[in-house]
Amino acid sequence: MVVLGIESSCDETAAAVVADDRRILADTIFAQIAEHTPFGGVVPEIAARAHLDHLDDTIAAAMSQAGMDFADLDAVAVTGGPGLIGGVIVGVMMAKSIALAHKKPFIAVNHLEGHALTARLTDDVAFPYLLLLVSGGHCQLLIVEGVGRYRRLGATIDDAAGEAFDKAAKLMGLGFPGGPAVAKAAAEASAPFRDLPRPMKGRPDCNFSFSGLKTALRQRVEALRAANAFDDTTRANLAAGFQAAVVDCLIDRTRHALEAAKADHPDLSALVVAGGVAANQHLRAQLQALAAKHNLPIVAPPPRLCTDNAAMIAWAGIERLKLGERSGFDYAPRPRWPLDSAAPALAGAGVKA
Ligand code: KG4
Ligand code: ZN
Repeated sequence: MVVLGIESSCDETAAAVVADDRRILADTIFAQIAEHTPFGGVVPEIAARAHLDHLDDTIAAAMSQAGMDFADLDAVAVTGGPGLIGGVIVGVMMAKSIALAHKKPFIAVNHLEGHALTARLTDDVAFPYLLLLVSGGHCQLLIVEGVGRYRRLGATIDDAAGEAFDKAAKLMGLGFPGGPAVAKAAAEASAPFRDLPRPMKGRPDCNFSFSGLKTALRQRVEALRAANAFDDTTRANLAAGFQAAVVDCLIDRTRHALEAAKADHPDLSALVVAGGVAANQHLRAQLQALAAKHNLPIVAPPPRLCTDNAAMIAWAGIERLKLGERSGFDYAPRPRWPLDSAAPALAGAGVKA
C-alpha cells in the first residue's frame, strides 16, 4: 500500500509518499519561516494563504521524488485537524480533490495521531507505549494502547512546552522559531541560571504548567535590562537556565507518568517522545537516562520526523486504512480534536485551535 500524506495544520506545508512496509518514498516540506518571522510567531491568515500558494508545488515535488503518478497511489491521507482551521481546510480540499479525480480512497487523520504513531513508522514500536507529545501547540502524556486508543495521563494547563520556548526566545530577543534558538544560545552558556521555578514538579498528577516559568523569566530579563546587564553571556546563561527548567519539568512529569503507566501496563514496550520539542538534545539525553532506569527503550524519531511533516500523516493514514477505515467526502475539518475524548479539556491536548 502506497499513500500520499498532506500536512497543512500549522506553518509547514508538507507532502510525503509512504509505503506500508515503512519506506518513506518522498518527504517534502516547505517551512513558512520567512513569512512569519517579521511577526515573531505564526499568523493564521498568512499561514492559510501560504499553504494555498505552496501546496500544489510541494505535492508535485513529493510525487516526483517518489517517481510516481497519482494513479500509482492507493489512497490520500490528510491532516483533518486539530490546527489552524484555514490551513486545515486548504489541505483537506486538496486531498479530497486528488482522491476524487483519481478515484482513490481519502482519509482524514488527527495531526496528533500522526505524531503519536511516528515511532511505529521509524522503529516499529509495539503497543502499548508511553508517549510524551511535546510541540508548539501540544504538551501531553498518553498511553498509546492501539490505533485510536489513547489514554491521557496528563497535559498542560496553560502553555505547551514549545510555546514556552517560543515565548522565552521572544523575551530574550533570540528570534523565531524559539526552540532551536534557545537551544543554540544555551549551548554557549558558561554559568546557567539555576534558580528559575519548576512549576508542578512533584505534584501527584501528570499535568504541566509553564506560564509561571515564563513570568519568572520575563521578570529576570526586565531586571537585567534595567541594570544594563543583559549581554550575550548573560543571555546564554539565562537560555540554558530556562531550557534546564523546562526539561526538568518534562522529566519529572514523565517519570511520574511512567510509574503510573507501568502499573497499568506491565507490558509497556517503550518510552516514546514526539513533537517539535523532541528535537531538543538536552531533553533527549535526559529521557534516555529516565527510560534506562526503567529498563525501557527510548524511541525518539529523527528531528525531521519530530517536527511537523507529512510522512507521519501518510503513516497514520496507512495504520487506519489497514483497519479498513476511510473518510467520506463530506468530511468537515476540525479545529479541535483531542486524542482522548474522555479526558477533561485542557489547553495542550488538542482542544485549543
Ligand atoms: O511539532 P511542531 O513542528 O509543530 C506543532 O505542531 O506545534 O513543533 C514546533 C515547536 C516549536 O514551538 C519549536 O520552538 C519547538 O517545537 N522546537 C524546539 C526545538 N526544535 C523545535 N523546542 C526546543 N528545542 C528544540 N531543539
Ligand atoms: Zn505538530
